[in-house]
Amino acid sequence: MVTIVTHPLVQHKLTVMRDRTTNSALFRVTLREVSFLIAYEVMKDLKLGRREIETPLETGTFPSLEGRRLCFVSILRAGAGLLNGMLDLVPDARVGHIGLYRDHATLEPVQYYLKLPDAMGECEAIVVDPMLATGNSAIAAVDLLKKAGAGRIKYMCLLAAPEGVAAFEAAHPDTPIFTAAIDRELNEKGYILPGLGDAGDRIFGTV
Ligand code: URA
Repeated sequence: MVTIVTHPLVQHKLTVMRDRTTNSALFRVTLREVSFLIAYEVMKDLKLGRREIETPLETGTFPSLEGRRLCFVSILRAGAGLLNGMLDLVPDARVGHIGLYRDHATLEPVQYYLKLPDAMGECEAIVVDPMLATGNSAIAAVDLLKKAGAGRIKYMCLLAAPEGVAAFEAAHPDTPIFTAAIDRELNEKGYILPGLGDAGDRIFGTV
């Protein structure tokens, strides 16, 4: 299942990020802001516990999130651009990193790093990567999480290609996707059109 977050603020911020004249500083700030807004949708069904606290006037039991039950899994390197905003929202969440790069010839993902929390089985995992392009990295990341025992998994991105969505849904029909838009198509190099270019390069200024 794909959820497209159509909120006007998200769509406006996505346009800012698409604009080639947007520099890395503005790109990063805008990605952080948009991550809050997409996260609002991604996390809307989170289970809340209850916590007893004292207000200045009374004692009571109130809704409370157990951040440690969440694990944000960032696909290096562009995932970092979404991860920071997610951690602003849920500072107690656990964090995993998966290092995958795309072999430019085959467009297949090559794993070079993996560090996941031990208690993956107790967590709801939210995988973050701004671009769902061919879907190969996303599929590989969710394969790794399932192998590590993750139960509930969601996939959060900023922009997706129809080809990537189809491949991901075929491989992991149980994992919902959240995105701000599904663009027209991939080009022969696996870039999303019209897209926003290479998200990692735009975030880190490596162009
Ligand atoms: N990764 C990117 O950063 N951009 C694309 O368009 C596709 C994959």
